[in-house]
Amino acid sequence: MAPTVVLLHAFPLDKRQWDGVVDAIAEADWDVVVPDLRGFGGSAFDDEGPDDEPSLALMARDVLSILDRLGVNSAVFVGLSLGGYVAMEILRQDPSRVAGLALLDTKASADNDEAKGNRVRIAEQVVAAGSTEALARAMLPNLLGATTHADRPEVVDLVGEWIKDADPAGVAWAQRGMAARPDSHGDLALMTAPALVLWGDEDVISPRAEQDSMMAVLRDARFVVVPGAGHLSAVEDSAAVSSALIDFLADVRQLPFAT
Ligand code: MLT
Repeated sequence: MAPTVVLLHAFPLDKRQWDGVVDAIAEADWDVVVPDLRGFGGSAFDDEGPDDEPSLALMARDVLSILDRLGVNSAVFVGLSLGGYVAMEILRQDPSRVAGLALLDTKASADNDEAKGNRVRIAEQVVAAGSTEALARAMLPNLLGATTHADRPEVVDLVGEWIKDADPAGVAWAQRGMAARPDSHGDLALMTAPALVLWGDEDVISPRAEQDSMMAVLRDARFVVVPGAGHLSAVEDSAAVSSALIDFLADVRQLPFAT
């Protein structure tokens, strides 16, 4: 059995976000697990809505349950933004399962009160509207970098369609879960597994200072900048992100790696 990589998507997307990356990683001889996080894509809530209080800890437990079912003990977790928050939650719950951690365009800080208030407002708006159309219009300018907006309108349209596909109940649940997430710097500081911190240099949602603060506490980490990409680096420049991930994974593979 090949070692396993888990790809965790951003908000408010689903596993399609990784379409440009997954084949390259599989070709490098890794088993790739690409879940839809709770509330999104194939994991959208049913008509009754969510049963549980919003919490990224539950998203993390869902991911670990999938690995349990597959018989996978430890894996390399790759998370972009929300996916990074969930990967850090997995680290908090059970560091023994983290053979490596790739944090893409994310941050370890918790939200301040203003950010929490914005999330609650958005959660209320999408549920009241019963649609994520307005959310797509509001998010797209910052979600993608200036270069993508200027040169690749088809990517802007694609991401807009993905956001419109998102279920309002899942969006609201995730917003409230993200608002409640704790700071993860202490968990990163204790981690002994290798890390990759990757950042699109046009990312205005998870700014450079957040990357520096993660790098400052990680014991064994490399930092990769993807020029001309914004917050959705893995969508905007999937070739550069795949290449950085494959280099990182090759190094992780040299280490003792339990499945
Ligand atoms: C994401 O891309 O997952 C979001 O920007 C995360 C967030 O809202 O903090």
